[in-house]
Amino acid sequence: MNSEASIATRATALRAALNRAAYQYYTLDAPEIPDAEYDRLFSELQAIEAAHPELRTPDSPTQRVGGAVLPGFTPVRHAVPMLSIRTETDTSPAGAEKFDEQVRNYLASEQRRTALKAGDARHRAEPLGPVAQAVLAGQPIGYVAEPKFDGLAISLRYENGVLVQAATRGDGETGEDVTQNIRTLRQIPLRLAGDAPPVLEVRGEVYMRRDDFEALNERMRARMAAGDKAAKTFVNPRNAAAGAVRQLDPAMAAERPLSFFAYGLGEVTPPADGGPDFQSHWQVLQALKSWGFPVSALARQAQGASELIAFHADVAAERDQLPFDIDGVVYKVDALELQRELGFVSREPRWAVAHKYPAQEQLTTVQAIDVQVGRTGKLTPVAKLAPVFVGGVTVTNATLHNELEARRKDVRVGDTVVVRRAGDVIPEVVSVLPDKRAAGASEFSMPTHCPVCGSDVVREEGEADHRCTGGIFCPAQRKQALLHFASRRALDIEGLGEKLVDQLVDGNVVRTLPDVYRMGFVSLAALDRMAAKSAQNLLDALEKSKQTTLARFLFALGIRHVGETTAKDLARHFGTLDAIMAAGTDQLLQTPDVGPVVAESIHTFFAQPHNREVVEQLRAVGIHWPEGEPAPAALLPLAGKTFVLTGTLPTLSRDDAKALLEAQGAKVSGSVSKKTHYVVAGEEAGSKLDKARELGVPVIDEDGMRALLGGSGV
Ligand code: IVH
Repeated sequence: MNSEASIATRATALRAALNRAAYQYYTLDAPEIPDAEYDRLFSELQAIEAAHPELRTPDSPTQRVGGAVLPGFTPVRHAVPMLSIRTETDTSPAGAEKFDEQVRNYLASEQRRTALKAGDARHRAEPLGPVAQAVLAGQPIGYVAEPKFDGLAISLRYENGVLVQAATRGDGETGEDVTQNIRTLRQIPLRLAGDAPPVLEVRGEVYMRRDDFEALNERMRARMAAGDKAAKTFVNPRNAAAGAVRQLDPAMAAERPLSFFAYGLGEVTPPADGGPDFQSHWQVLQALKSWGFPVSALARQAQGASELIAFHADVAAERDQLPFDIDGVVYKVDALELQRELGFVSREPRWAVAHKYPAQEQLTTVQAIDVQVGRTGKLTPVAKLAPVFVGGVTVTNATLHNELEARRKDVRVGDTVVVRRAGDVIPEVVSVLPDKRAAGASEFSMPTHCPVCGSDVVREEGEADHRCTGGIFCPAQRKQALLHFASRRALDIEGLGEKLVDQLVDGNVVRTLPDVYRMGFVSLAALDRMAAKSAQNLLDALEKSKQTTLARFLFALGIRHVGETTAKDLARHFGTLDAIMAAGTDQLLQTPDVGPVVAESIHTFFAQPHNREVVEQLRAVGIHWPEGEPAPAALLPLAGKTFVLTGTLPTLSRDDAKALLEAQGAKVSGSVSKKTHYVVAGEEAGSKLDKARELGVPVIDEDGMRALLGGSGV
């Protein structure tokens, strides 16, 4: 085969692979390969076609944008095509500089002048306007920089202020009518606020928040564990969102919590007919807000390349903490006059670019599947991966959750898999590429005995998890229990980390929690990598940890179902440890927010003689807390008030805000209900804010919260 022929073969293979991937992605909403892999194959094909134009075919994926219309949805022809934007894959700051330079060069270019002379309709046959002239005279270009939301594009058509149609992008010319599904999104106004032009098409992104996605998958896993064959988990928020929007049953779509950001316009009544006369994209965004659409609070105006670079870096630093996925940022030339001067090239505007961040999904291979044992004995299969850079970090482990999940995804040793890491969520294997599986790879199954202590493994009725029955006899559980005990929110023993705990448990220095306080300087200093100074520091930290609170102590014990909040509730309600230990389930149930499962778990824990023994010994080694005082919370200014925090506050982290509120006796809850007294909302607040508005719960900002704290919280 000569090289010309082998290049042609490669191009054909790339086209087939890309078309298959596009069909899976756009039409089935079930992609098999990650976006980054698609981009790589796409660039390779583009490069081949650029070098060998004769190999370019009309059906090449490089020649179109889109996906086919599913049978079942009515096609909608877009009055103004829904374009895509060019992607800058150089993830370094240079990507922003390149764009700025291209815009500037084009305005001054020979190409533009030639096109003008030839009367090419794609270029404006008029002299440059004042903004373009200022740019050519050396003024920095004004941009708007926005996050690139990872969802799916939607066009919303309003006639006389009323939502009449919602359509997907489809191939850019024709999309699908998804009005019924979109009407279920609370963030999308069914009627515009204020003065609206007779015709208005709003363009934006429908997406799913990360917390909503995790909760949805959690619900799906529970349904699967209960034997529901129709339940399935989703690989990522974008997929879950796309699936929901294109769900043929609107009731099912409504079950999937979706959100929306507006970022542009389609057809609008022209100024000549009384429509709005916008001068800039920034004005468009402000108008969208005034009509009642959510517009990202992260969007900002930027002058010149340097401010684009700063935006790219600022958003990158926040990316992990954002409540939703983004795969990059978008830069748009702000002045609409300049946008018109710049025009389009092959259906992509010259005035916008998407500047990517490192991908959150990548391909790698599974080297082994280990089974880890957690604090409560839960067995978790973990895929050991060939190291891969994803979502900004190198990942070598990914959880498979439980046997059911591992089997459903059918992950086997040697498999090529898609790994996802987004936000601070732990890395996950989302799917397997079955085509790449080696013959003879065997299916995963849970061990029948604990891989750490050899005790029997059981799976309780109706539960998805397997558990080691070894209890505190199991070193793995002992280690986890010890790490939990020492953790920041429990007894906060600085220096008692994983490596040290491994040594202490493996060397049998620590068998039960109180043993930690019986270690002397000599035995500690004799440990591996333990200098005299660190040994002394640890002893000091242990001494310091003895003075604690009842809530921390209760939390530190690691009682199943007793998290930080429940521990605080119990401490507040009972006042003393003895009262809690003596309480029957009925009395425990009197505690606010303690239900039967939690009450039973606490009662069972304290009914075990060995647990009571551990508690007595911990008190004997000197752990103490103030107790027996009259239920102090009732006297505090915010006692009895429930708060919900949502979004990013300007100066306080979630933890700090929570601590300030709780210090004044308030309760901080995770979800909004009629019983919520205040919702404290920051930037990018989402469904909780909507809920608050719907229920009429007062919404305050950080300043409002500080006012309630009476200036006590700084
Ligand atoms: S503007 C002509 N702004 O990215 C420009 N698009 O390939 C039209 N997207 O299909 C798009 N965030 O789904 C724009 N802030 C943003 C965006 C955004 C995400 C998506 C959109 C579009 C694709 C562009």
